[in-house]
Amino acid sequence: MSAAPPKRLAFNAFSMNCVSHIHHGLWGRPDTRQMEYNTLDPWLELARILDKGCIDALFLADVVGLYDNYRGGPETSIREGMQVPVNDPMLLIPAMAAVTEHLGFAFTSSVLSEHPYIFARRLSTLDHLTRGRVGWNIVTSYLPGAARNLGLEELPRHDDRYERADDYLEVLYKLLEASWDDDAVVGDTARGVYAEPGRVHTIDHVGPYYQVPGPHLSEPSPQRTPVLFQAGSSDRGREFAARHAEAMFVVSNRAGLAKIVADVRARAARYGRRPEDIKFFPGITPIVGGTEAEARAKEAELREQLSIEGGLAHMSGSIGADLGELDPHRPIGSYDFNAMTGLLKGLAETAPDRSWTFGDLAKRQMTGQFLVGSPEQIADRLASFAEAGADGFNLVYTTTPGTFVDFIDGVAPELQRRGLMRAENEPGTLRDRLFGHPRLPDTHPGAHVRRGNGGGRPAVLS
Ligand SMILES: Cc1cc2nc3c(=O)[nH]c(=O)nc-3n(C[C@H](O)[C@H](O)[C@H](O)COP(=O)(O)O)c2cc1C
Repeated sequence: MSAAPPKRLAFNAFSMNCVSHIHHGLWGRPDTRQMEYNTLDPWLELARILDKGCIDALFLADVVGLYDNYRGGPETSIREGMQVPVNDPMLLIPAMAAVTEHLGFAFTSSVLSEHPYIFARRLSTLDHLTRGRVGWNIVTSYLPGAARNLGLEELPRHDDRYERADDYLEVLYKLLEASWDDDAVVGDTARGVYAEPGRVHTIDHVGPYYQVPGPHLSEPSPQRTPVLFQAGSSDRGREFAARHAEAMFVVSNRAGLAKIVADVRARAARYGRRPEDIKFFPGITPIVGGTEAEARAKEAELREQLSIEGGLAHMSGSIGADLGELDPHRPIGSYDFNAMTGLLKGLAETAPDRSWTFGDLAKRQMTGQFLVGSPEQIADRLASFAEAGADGFNLVYTTTPGTFVDFIDGVAPELQRRGLMRAENEPGTLRDRLFGHPRLPDTHPGAHVRRGNGGGRPAVLS
């Protein structure tokens, strides 16, 4: 019996429309274009590199608030360019799509930021303009400032945000999948009929958070619903992913990954979905050298330059506790654990031993995903992650486009030689590229609202 063919992995380049995304303190290096984020040129260069390098998608993170709880305020984040200033990710996409043919674009948008009726039109517009190369990273926001600036008194509670997201998705599915029939647009110049009114339907959505009559403003785009990504891995987050996500971003070691994959897939089965309909993408930061020694030297230089202050401000915002109250150089063991808030205590407990400091934890946060070595060594590690359930990876940069160039020139040929990475681009949508079909599968809840699938609504004028 011959061995099963190797699993072909997918690769996303991970970036953000700001100066400093994950690895803080590096933006001043002469070999990175982070300070040019306000201009199109570095984005067009990056998109071309990724497209030519057979990378599957560029994934753009986003936040709609400042990390403003470190030392009681936003000063460190502002000083360090730490996810602020931050520009709109969506607006970069049409320009990058114009200079590429195959690259997908997954961007982040929070369900708190925009009404789903308007957001549905943005998705359709982007899917048309990119010829079906769009993905959406669904987030529910964790920065309290985001909620306050959007007119809410405070950030809704964690699980309530996911409840809202369920309703938001329901609206989107109905607008994107069920409002316009496939044959609604006829473009019949002889009869002077662009679209048949009898094939365009209201959605009449009445949910706990949103009431949307419809119909949708846009005609059906190549994918209709963009590829749905999700990153929350709390219990409620996993439940949400199991129901809606087609791809999940995870931060985990090899053993943790296998557990998350098994858990989310088991939950997905309860929604009638197939295991292969959700792909899992851990994040990695490849640091590639011709030899291991060369890679280690690069790593040492980067580690030296990383900003602990930037890392602490980032982590404070993410966990919702001010790490500025603590001395970053004092061993964790010298604190009274029991006097700490639950969040700080939880974080302190992740340290391998009590001699670690919170500063060490901040550095680990930024370097925990480093994969350092020769192309062969990095390919070995990726193959081992694939055995634990990874379907692909998010490539997190230290310098841009340098990290991506090093991966494409160094590691990709080795992966391609092993059959683990595509060596050529093929035409099609982002969903074709990741799953081999352009639209949501029938087993996805988004497909259940389709007309003829039990979810149809009467036509607008029928
Ligand atoms: C790889 C990765 C990327 C993420 N990107 C974003 C982002 O761009 N914007 C955002 O608001 N949250 C982002 N998050 C946070 C998640 O969406 C989520 O809010 C967080 O993981 C907490 O959710 P949970 O409590 O369900 O785990 C990201 C998380 C991960 C792991």
